[in-house]
Amino acid sequence: MINIGLLGFGTVGTGIFKILESRQEQLKRITGESISIKRILVKNLHKKRDVEINLDIITDNFDDILTDKDITIIIEVTGDLEDSYNYITESLKAGKHVVTANKKVASRYFEEFTDLADKMGLAFLYEGCVGGGIPVIKPLKEQLALNEIIEVKGILNGTCNYILTRMEEGLEYSEALKIAQQLGFAELDPADDVKGIDTRRKLRILGTLALQGRIQEEDILLRGISSIKAVDIDYIKRINSTVRLIGEIRSYEDGYTAIVEPVIVSQDSPFYSVCYEKNAIFLKGDNVGDLIFYGSGAGMLPTGNAVLEDVIDIITGSYRNGNLLGTRKLKNLNSNIKGEYYLRISKSCNDIANIMESIAKEILCRDECVVIMTRSMLLEDITNLLKAMEIKEEEYFLARRGE
Ligand SMILES: NC(=O)c1ccc[n+]([C@@H]2O[C@H](COP(=O)([O-])OP(=O)(O)OC[C@H]3O[C@@H](n4cnc5c(N)ncnc54)[C@H](OP(=O)(O)O)[C@@H]3O)[C@@H](O)[C@H]2O)c1
Repeated sequence: MINIGLLGFGTVGTGIFKILESRQEQLKRITGESISIKRILVKNLHKKRDVEINLDIITDNFDDILTDKDITIIIEVTGDLEDSYNYITESLKAGKHVVTANKKVASRYFEEFTDLADKMGLAFLYEGCVGGGIPVIKPLKEQLALNEIIEVKGILNGTCNYILTRMEEGLEYSEALKIAQQLGFAELDPADDVKGIDTRRKLRILGTLALQGRIQEEDILLRGISSIKAVDIDYIKRINSTVRLIGEIRSYEDGYTAIVEPVIVSQDSPFYSVCYEKNAIFLKGDNVGDLIFYGSGAGMLPTGNAVLEDVIDIITGSYRNGNLLGTRKLKNLNSNIKGEYYLRISKSCNDIANIMESIAKEILCRDECVVIMTRSMLLEDITNLLKAMEIKEEEYFLARRGE
């Protein structure tokens, strides 16, 4: 019998519980073990739960789980940062394997958790942290054995993708966001999603593994979608393209670039048809070439499924043990990032319009707002110009034209 301690019983925790209930027999056949959730940690003991459950196994005291010698696997799906850091480190120190879908804590303490698990001879697995139900971490680890990964990029946030798809259908940003919140895709406070912070956490995890050297959140340039307007989508549609929030890390001989930004994708791009809450991740290896992973980037059952895939690997001993994070010293080359950019500035005066004209390949509007497509130029030069013109973040929208 394998006993699990489940930390968190919200959307993902409930998904894990439901799948385990309905797949007991198959799991026993594959793993040779019965798998049981022995204790569940929550914040509020009195909250009504959506599933029928023996309330005796629910606790609000982590020590009940930590000190239980029968519990050998901890699943951490709380969404918390400080407490969950303690839950994960204490669990590993106590000799328990850890699986998490909590990208906030996994991204912040990625190396520390990985090192500690390695030192203890335990698993620290995190498939559910990136791409929800899409299996991408495990395939990436497998490809690392034979490939140098040159590029990793993706649509990694379902909320942003949902908003952008609904805007293509004619909605304004605020309307699309409101519907995303009503449907439960977006949090009441959507900042982490729409500002690109959640995408950056996932990219940090993917990039560190892919390039075999530490790439931290601060090493990744960040622009989200919170300043986009319907008018931007209209102009971009005229060039048979659309906008997607893409996280991208590229490896070069002398270093790497890392950025989360809105990208204009044409109909030829594999990202064009990734709509609504779906995610897609693209890897390029020097031997394997291009790989694309597509699917549900979030949700109770897809994410629960990803977490339980990790649990199966622990029970069957088929996870890749050892520390898979490389030690390459990587040079950040973000100041080299360049391209053609769509730029809309909401306010206009002669000075702004003249400066914009000086960098434009094409002027799309010079009216109450200024809209241009720039010639190919360094991103740093554009952002410096915006700073010099004292244009605030919410007063412009900038999107790179994808290749
Ligand atoms: N939702 C998704 O589709 C999805 C997809 C991929 C990854 N994730 C990640 O998975 C994690 C869980 O997401 P979720 O959507 O399931 O969150 P959620 O619905 O808000 O559930 C969080 C659960 O954790 C408990 N909890 C929160 N803080 C805690 C603390 N400090 N100590 C003990 N328990 C605590 C809550 O207790 P109460 O029930 O008592 O409030 C609740 O049961 C997050 O890190 C999220 O980013 C989610």
